[in-house]
Amino acid sequence: MQHFLDIHDLAVDQIQSLLQRAQQMKKSANYPQKNTQTLANLFYENSTRTRVSFELAAKHMGMQVINVQLQTSSEQKGEVIEDTLSTLAAMGIQYFVIRHQQDGLPQAMAAFLGRRAHVINAGDGKHAHPSQALLDMLTIQEHKPHVHQLKVAIVGNLRHSRVANSFQAMALKMGIGELALIAPPLWQPEQPIFGEVTPDLRQGLADADVVMCLRVQKERLAEDEQLDLSQYRSQYSLTPDTIKYAKPDAIIMHPGPINRGIEIDSVLADGPQSVILQQVQNGVYARMAILDALK
Ligand code: CP
Repeated sequence: MQHFLDIHDLAVDQIQSLLQRAQQMKKSANYPQKNTQTLANLFYENSTRTRVSFELAAKHMGMQVINVQLQTSSEQKGEVIEDTLSTLAAMGIQYFVIRHQQDGLPQAMAAFLGRRAHVINAGDGKHAHPSQALLDMLTIQEHKPHVHQLKVAIVGNLRHSRVANSFQAMALKMGIGELALIAPPLWQPEQPIFGEVTPDLRQGLADADVVMCLRVQKERLAEDEQLDLSQYRSQYSLTPDTIKYAKPDAIIMHPGPINRGIEIDSVLADGPQSVILQQVQNGVYARMAILDALK
């Protein structure tokens, strides 16, 4: 594989192989080494989990890592991203992990670089976050291996969520039994990739084995002026009362970062059903599997 850009690009056996590889690496610290290789993180949007886990994954595999400081890079003097990437590739960097606010930017940079380097999409705009979908699937399989029999429910801003888009693509490829997409009308996806849309939290969560809660993207509330945050919280937040609609052994997921007391109560985020920190831990193994697959 030359680039890792979108779940849609992957065959089912490629996804299964990435999941198996991540699981193997979790069981054994005998990681494959790429110690002549260098990876650059280019994060044009903020990140904690994705940036650090790609850095850790690369370092576990013996790679050198450069975190490009974009606020002080020559892009501030007008250099275009293509020239930044060509410059870094000329210095010998072979892996570019790119997060960008523009939908499709990592894909465009992969087309630009071709075989000169590997591009990994670490989240593009509202479009895709494929490494998140991989770690989410890895976490689900650890708890609920019979994915064809599962009901997964996602609640939150599905219209603007790259996490939800990539998870829908993953659920479709992996044959998840049922996917409920729960959101108020303003946040419902315009064209769902997979799943049934509902505005009703109770109906969407009914009998769910997995409940995935999305972050309320406060930075998007200005765009959604009609959305009343307190009303959203009263109708859609995961609380000890609303989680009872799902199965008693349902796992609770969240990609992070969490707005405690808004989309989810702390008692659930930190409670026995939560697998949120396991998702974070699995992110390192999922990203090692991605780096290993890029040849
Ligand atoms: N889930 C996720 O992408 O988190 P970060 O924004 O911290 O990378």
